[in-house]
Amino acid sequence: MRFHVLTLFPEAFAQPLQFSIVARAVQRGQINIDVADIRDYTHDAHGTADDYQFGGGHGMVMKPEPVFEAAEAAERAQIPVILTTPQGELLTQKLVEELASSPAIAIICGHYAGVDERIAEGLATRPVSIGDYVLTGGELPAMIIIDAVTRLLPGVVGSPESVAGDSITTGLLQHPLYTRPAEFRGMTVPEVLLSGHHAEIDRWRRRKSLERTLEHRPDLLSTASLTNDDRRYLAG
Ligand code: ADE
Repeated sequence: MRFHVLTLFPEAFAQPLQFSIVARAVQRGQINIDVADIRDYTHDAHGTADDYQFGGGHGMVMKPEPVFEAAEAAERAQIPVILTTPQGELLTQKLVEELASSPAIAIICGHYAGVDERIAEGLATRPVSIGDYVLTGGELPAMIIIDAVTRLLPGVVGSPESVAGDSITTGLLQHPLYTRPAEFRGMTVPEVLLSGHHAEIDRWRRRKSLERTLEHRPDLLSTASLTNDDRRYLAG
């Protein structure tokens, strides 16, 4: 998978993706992250990539010419061209899965007040928001997209089951996890997890997932695939 990142702040990508699983995926050649500096595609002496808004208003707007030229230099094939913007489609695990099935994606990092609408209209095919809050720029959202897509690629995360059984992937929030020691500062690990009864453990985990989802994300319950047993427990 090749990620083409188009940004006014390429230095933002130098460190954050260089540890743990994403760094290993780069080393193994499972992913490539090409970071292009949009300012390299400006044509004036000052490297002007943003300008005032037509119609007035606070904040600068990213100019279309350098962004189009940077995208055209990156890849000619038909690949998803994401624009990070609070006005985009919400990033969900389903969208991450869809993006992971593409051989390459381009990510245009919006910045300042936003980008000229012609970038959204004529270049980006997927405006994406990572949540209902406003950040100073699209660089962190781009890294989040790269991270979430990378861990779905074959061979990147140790076992396929750990990806398939993930929080959210199953439609529910993840159950609690424990490791050694069995007792820590008076806090104990639930007895059932030490019992070796796999059916009981599965049942306990399922119920904890249901409880957590009901408490923190009840909206997910309307789309999660629930058994009759699950429904009885929730009604319980
Ligand atoms: N740029 C600023 N805020 C953003 C958000 N929530 N998602 C994606 N890009 C953004």
